[in-house]
Amino acid sequence: MNYRHAFHAGNFADCMKHAVLVWLLRALARKDKAFAVLDSHAGIGRYDLSAGPAERTGEWRAGIGRLRGGAAPELADYLGVVERLGLYPGSPAIVRALLRPGDRLVCCELHPEDAMALKRAFRGDPQVAVHQRDAWEAMGALLPFPERRGLVLIDPPYEAVDEFDRVAAALVAAHRRFPGGVLAAWYPIKARAAVRGLHDALRAAGVRDVVAAEIFLREPLDASRLNGCGMLLVNPPFGFEAAMAEMLPVLLDGLGDGERGEGTAVLRLADE
Ligand SMILES: C[S@@+](CC[C@H](N)C(=O)[O-])C[C@H]1O[C@@H](n2cnc3c(N)ncnc32)[C@H](O)[C@@H]1O
Repeated sequence: MNYRHAFHAGNFADCMKHAVLVWLLRALARKDKAFAVLDSHAGIGRYDLSAGPAERTGEWRAGIGRLRGGAAPELADYLGVVERLGLYPGSPAIVRALLRPGDRLVCCELHPEDAMALKRAFRGDPQVAVHQRDAWEAMGALLPFPERRGLVLIDPPYEAVDEFDRVAAALVAAHRRFPGGVLAAWYPIKARAAVRGLHDALRAAGVRDVVAAEIFLREPLDASRLNGCGMLLVNPPFGFEAAMAEMLPVLLDGLGDGERGEGTAVLRLADE
């Protein structure tokens, strides 16, 4: 396990993922009934951008560094959560901040040091469980949630060559176990082929109600670069496509450098 999220925290891809995550959590909280969240690849939960790995790569400067202090209403909720939490929040900190009494967060993180840091961060919190556990195995064991409502966030490092295939298989399996659950998988866009493969795999498996939201900093021609990223949603909450069609261009306004081929897309891959 070479990947450490601390090097990339707050970069443009994190901002996109976390802005979408905040929207999804607000949507889940629209109904009174309790929900659970499984953060399958959780990281350490909070990142000091002014020191250590994040400071060394400086990736956050082209991400949250540009968005902070912005006044666009489409990003106000996400930026407000980030500001309120102090250190740059990873997905577990964002989810925790938006749980209501009675809602639950379950985190899996395989890296021993990162899992330990995350356990420390949530020690004594009755609404959060942290497992040092393989996400792919845990999804089989932890789904469906007893609450019958909730979100599964799948955010692997895409270090392994077959990671897109694993994500596709995990989404299909999670959907079978938890047909009503909202499933969200983040993916990098380096080249189009891998992304097309993921979309096609979901379609081929017959999964219904699938939408992809994507942001491109440039045309994905050089596969050695992170040219954009996407979130694939199964069972997106009501209003997701319309909200993303408004939010993603505003994100891109802040994050893009006007390179050729920059843009956003909200693609319906399968009808309800
Ligand atoms: C992209 S980072 C997660 C970032 C986090 N979701 C966030 O938004 O703040 C991916 C994490 O998955 C962990 N990881 C890698 N393989 C895993 C596996 N099989 N099961 C659980 N965690 C894994 C890595 O150690 C890393 O911390």
